[in-house]
Amino acid sequence: MSKLLRGGRISSARKDVVEFTASIKSDQKLLEAVIKINQAHVTMLLEQQIIKPSTAAKLLAALNEIDPKMKLDQTLEDVHLAVEEEINKKIPKDVAGNLHIAKSRNDQVATAIRMALRTSLHDLINLIVTLQDSLIKLAEKHTETLVPSYTHLHPAQPVTFAHILVSYVDALQRSIMRIKGALPRINLCPMGAGAIATTSFPINRERTAELLGFSAVLENSIDAVGSRDFILETLADLTILATDVSRIAEDLIVWSSPDFGIIDLPESFAFTSSIMPQKKNPDVLEVIRARMSQILGNFVISATTLKALPSGYNLDLQELTPKLWESIETVSASLYVLSELTIHLNVNKDVFSKDVLHYSTTTELANLLVKKYDVPFRMSHKIVGAVVKTLLEKKLTLLNLKSELVNKTAENVAGITLAVKQADIKDSIDPKKFVESHNTLGGPAPAEVKRMLKNRKQLTAHSKKSLETHKKGLEEADLKLKSAIHKYALTKIED
Ligand code: ARG
Repeated sequence: MSKLLRGGRISSARKDVVEFTASIKSDQKLLEAVIKINQAHVTMLLEQQIIKPSTAAKLLAALNEIDPKMKLDQTLEDVHLAVEEEINKKIPKDVAGNLHIAKSRNDQVATAIRMALRTSLHDLINLIVTLQDSLIKLAEKHTETLVPSYTHLHPAQPVTFAHILVSYVDALQRSIMRIKGALPRINLCPMGAGAIATTSFPINRERTAELLGFSAVLENSIDAVGSRDFILETLADLTILATDVSRIAEDLIVWSSPDFGIIDLPESFAFTSSIMPQKKNPDVLEVIRARMSQILGNFVISATTLKALPSGYNLDLQELTPKLWESIETVSASLYVLSELTIHLNVNKDVFSKDVLHYSTTTELANLLVKKYDVPFRMSHKIVGAVVKTLLEKKLTLLNLKSELVNKTAENVAGITLAVKQADIKDSIDPKKFVESHNTLGGPAPAEVKRMLKNRKQLTAHSKKSLETHKKGLEEADLKLKSAIHKYALTKIED
């Protein structure tokens, strides 16, 4: 327990109560930001002539000595006191004691979370892009690989494996856009808001914000210390991302079942049963699917914590922060494993040898009667439906279909005379031809999917570039801060 805040208003303390209330266990992630905030704050205090150059020099030199990877003393309340304690160990108390002029843990913690979060979100976007890259690489090998698409988990229509993979890439792209969209609201600086009402010292909030790489100040001081909608917004974005990741995992689980036989998991990503020697279970994917629920859980916990809190700072807010880090770590680990698995995935190129799947071309048989035999679609739908029923009753597949059955059914069901040719039927129920003919924008035709893939590759390249730009922006702010520290810490210690 830190003695810094004891002996004034509160003198006694119980270790167990402090430990219970502390945030130190999940504060490690904030240490680097808290050190920088203190450095920027001291720099600003000096430039505003609020503290003497000699004080600033000693404070900056001492702050510079703290290792941002230092293990936090777990007996302390939080990272803010941990840093202040360090400074107190390094320099005389009368100097160290001025570190906290015109700031509070309330504005400091809100600032630190925003700083750590923007970096974490850049890393997260990077992982999403890596998964997109893996999906695109796999898709390039499977633009001709025929697989059934499913509606209601029943075979619907033939597509290609690449076509499905592009659908994942696109869903992930929207997650990237949502996270990028949140960043400008995250990258605002609460410093200077103090505990809640700013300060009477003549501070310069813009300067602190600039030194910390923020795009602007989070203006209203009550809003600055008391708002956590940026956490809720991030968790909402993560929840949507997790929903997609979980759906991808679910698809892979289903497809890897021998009943479906669409994919074969790489051995290093599969597990066997302790009793059934034949088993190759998709355990990794099941863990991903389950863990993704925790993200929604954390969103709900955070939303219910925030709702009906009185305005201003409340320590309830502290309890949100670990949920944020936990969610980012959980999604990140799953994204990583999923991209590794994707690269090594084996896809069955012969799925359509299963007769039963041929029924998925039936729509095209109905289209044939419309296109070549002038039957209205609704009527054709009925005739072909009745044809399928008859085939199924006779335990036959679409491959056994004879033109006579179509013509006879047309007579029985719709009272029309048709002379459908066998060759036309053959073409319309061919899954390869089905896919090739579905060359509408966004469709499964290999040429169309190749076009989409080319475009998606440009998107991922663009994402990487814009990550670089953001990173550079933060590095520039770091340089500004470093040169200020260098200049002021080396100032001749005379006032
Ligand atoms: N550990 C706190 C948090 O994470 C820091 C702010 C504490 N402020 C206070 N007034 N007790 O939010």
